[in-house]
Amino acid sequence: MEKNKNAKSFIDLAKRRGFFWQSSEIYGGTSGMFDYGPLGLLLKRKLINKWREFFVKQEDNVYEIETSLIQPEKVFDASGHLKSFIDPVTQCKKCNSIFRADTLIQEKTKKFVEGKEPEELTKIIKENNIKCPKCKGELSKVKVFNLMLKTFLSPTEEEIAYLRPETAQGIFVNFKRILVATRAKLPFGVAQVGSSFRNEISPRQFIIRLRAFNQMEVEWFVNPKEINKHPRFKEVENIKIRILTREAQKENGKEITLTTKEAVKKGIVPNQYLAYFLARETQFFQSIGLPFESIRFRHMLPEETPHYSKGNFDLEIKFDFGWKETVGNAYRTDYDLKSHMKKSGVDLTLRLDDETKIIPHIIEPSFGIERPIYGILLYCYRDGKKRGWEWFAFPPNIAPYSAGVFPLVNKDGLQEKAKEIFKLLKKHFDVFYDDSGSIGRRYARADEIGTPFGITIDYDTMEKNTVTLRHRDTTKQDRVKIEDLVKIIYQLIHS
Ligand code: GAP
Repeated sequence: MEKNKNAKSFIDLAKRRGFFWQSSEIYGGTSGMFDYGPLGLLLKRKLINKWREFFVKQEDNVYEIETSLIQPEKVFDASGHLKSFIDPVTQCKKCNSIFRADTLIQEKTKKFVEGKEPEELTKIIKENNIKCPKCKGELSKVKVFNLMLKTFLSPTEEEIAYLRPETAQGIFVNFKRILVATRAKLPFGVAQVGSSFRNEISPRQFIIRLRAFNQMEVEWFVNPKEINKHPRFKEVENIKIRILTREAQKENGKEITLTTKEAVKKGIVPNQYLAYFLARETQFFQSIGLPFESIRFRHMLPEETPHYSKGNFDLEIKFDFGWKETVGNAYRTDYDLKSHMKKSGVDLTLRLDDETKIIPHIIEPSFGIERPIYGILLYCYRDGKKRGWEWFAFPPNIAPYSAGVFPLVNKDGLQEKAKEIFKLLKKHFDVFYDDSGSIGRRYARADEIGTPFGITIDYDTMEKNTVTLRHRDTTKQDRVKIEDLVKIIYQLIHS
């Protein structure tokens, strides 16, 4: 990665070119909510496609579903979110501002306090004389605040419901239906892509901590007796992964690099299933432009591990502001199915071939969408020193547009020919047409939004049916036949 002089220039560029903007901006904007503009939406779609290719299509039996964004209170009573999906908050007694207590303490003392009880956090605030960051007022006792966004389903407001805080619960409550409809046999996965909502106390860092965001989750249902026998582990056993162990977090904070096979053998990762996904995620993030050193898996400490998990190895990306979780990898065991079975009274067991009934265990790789996008923008950003303009070096398979089409001049039939080629390419790829300004300016604008290929129509095109194909990364140009263009671009995108 070229070093960014101004750490946030990649965000400025993305905003200027219309990747995203704040939601309801004309009314002053709403914190924690962003809207995707044309380029951001294309990038998001490409990311989802790439994720589907890796985690759905390349697996043997993953079923995709799409469930309701709103679910009744009973679902979250059973899942434990009503009781445990909480953050500690403290309020300024003078200006009434509310802060997330653990984050505030961490910022002031540099100590890791996530997962500590409210009483303990109150004590730390007192002992360290932490005051309101806004007005220096005294802070209240720490209380807990549920992160789910509540709504009501009836005009009398009797029926309470919540916007889902994860897509996963939609999968668990449909487990029986999915089993019957697909006749799936263990191990199998159920995937879901969609929005989730959390009433974050202090949304921050652009698209990193949002109140409305998107997730790509797969719940893998596994026979607990076979949790250490992933059928395709051999394919990834020599893939290197970087792990920050619990011990290292207390000692030197340094990651270790080892193969997934070694990680399982040494007991660093508890089972083959989790290790398999750590390897696949390492491959995935490299394929979308993030260097190996920019990702690591942190074994969450017991006190911060989510209520449903027996152990989390979260993929963290090294962002410009520090390391941050981007994929949660949880061993959810039979926690969710068991709780829903108990509360709903519906049998959620599965019959094995030998007729025994079991509740499968769940391994869950849970991706956010906005954090990977932030990572892609950060690591693909190139400053303007060499070229005279800033640009994004997106890998061709996730670039919003695959190509731009440019007539060299706007006369002698070149525009008409360029539009013909644009129409041809549009059938296969996301492409744009641009005939305004000098060709140099048009290349610069295409680079700025990370377009990997530029197709220029010139006088030779009219005579020989060839165009120039400009490669964004090298700025080199090839002469290619129009009849070969689709095939060549396809190969370049998928190479
Ligand atoms: N089903 C498990 C689950 O939701 P999580 O670790 O809470 O696990 C998974 O969330 C991913 O969703 C995170 O790694 C992150 O990428 C994304 N995510 C969670 N909360 C978010 C927020 N407030 N804003 C943006 N992305 C968020």
